[in-house]
Amino acid sequence: MVATITTPRLMAVGGGALAELPGILQRLGLARPLIVTDPYISSCGILERATALLDHAQIRWEVFADTVPDPTTPVVEAGALILAVGGFDSLVAIGGGSSIDTAKAMSVLAANGGRMRDYKAPADIPKAGLPVVAIPTTAGTGSEVTRFTVITDTETDEKMLVAGLACCPTAAIVDYELTLTMPLRLTADTGLDSLTHAIEAYVSRRASPYTDGLARNAMGLIARHIRTACAEPDNHQAREAMMLGATTAGMAFSNASVALVHGMSRPIGAFFHVPHGLSNAMLLPEITAFSVPAALDRYADCARAMGVADEGEGSQGAVARLLDELRRLNQDLKVPTPREWGIDPGRYEELLPVMANQALASGSPANNPMVPTSDEIIDLYRRVYG
Ligand SMILES: [Fe+2]
Repeated sequence: MVATITTPRLMAVGGGALAELPGILQRLGLARPLIVTDPYISSCGILERATALLDHAQIRWEVFADTVPDPTTPVVEAGALILAVGGFDSLVAIGGGSSIDTAKAMSVLAANGGRMRDYKAPADIPKAGLPVVAIPTTAGTGSEVTRFTVITDTETDEKMLVAGLACCPTAAIVDYELTLTMPLRLTADTGLDSLTHAIEAYVSRRASPYTDGLARNAMGLIARHIRTACAEPDNHQAREAMMLGATTAGMAFSNASVALVHGMSRPIGAFFHVPHGLSNAMLLPEITAFSVPAALDRYADCARAMGVADEGEGSQGAVARLLDELRRLNQDLKVPTPREWGIDPGRYEELLPVMANQALASGSPANNPMVPTSDEIIDLYRRVYG
């Protein structure tokens, strides 16, 4: 089997890496960036630090700060219009996955025209757009290194997956110091998202020896440090480990794909506005239990990589420890069930067929070791409801 690997051309990784922004733009021959961010990053001092660096290097910039959580088609379309008329040669995305995903989608739409849904996976994206330099301020989505963007179509309430080389940032600046001020809930949710990325990349039918190493590395970092990062926000060692874990998990799943958890998670996010990492975590233990019979040894490897099973322990025992740990993590990090989150049982039940259809149509469930039918997906949604 030959694995085709996509990664950014250039990365700066480590505490203080933000300072590399002007140098990275210059090395790529870029001189006129549009910064894509959100109101929080605009007001918390991070945007100001970035623009001061650009000013110092005499790089002219403008800001589009209208990014929203779970980016929507109208926001991307508004951003693409600004991008098309401003004489820009690049985008600098600063923020969580939403800002980075918005910048990628703006780049795709400005270069290719049409509507965002024209590029919904598995559609091709004909042209690469302006280069994106991605600067994550959360340790979670891995969007800074992936060839995916997820955009909610407000006309259909669908979280659309858009995939291709055109969605991979040209450069990434991975500076864990930007995550030191992340609140507890965001640290937990984004960390659980990246743990899900690593596990799904490892058990994916599209995994390769190249992505396996990245995924195992990410699982080890995240599982060993997520509780500390939540309990001690200023712990640099834990924050650095979580940031490295999130980015390497991103590289793993960008090239091996995610699977059933993400497939079923997107509709929960789209219809009930549950944060992405949280909807993954609601699903992860139950979907792992469902999938284990089809890939016992791979899930046992996950337990070993996470440090919850010994290298010498047999697969059955290791997998039991994995399931225990995933359930305990949800308890420790206070992950609610859909019922506890406040999702109305009638509305949930009524939407299950549509959610199952959207999950299957995304293609992600087909990468799962155990490929479910629509009825099995509905059954899993019912089982996790709580
Ligand atoms: Fe994710």
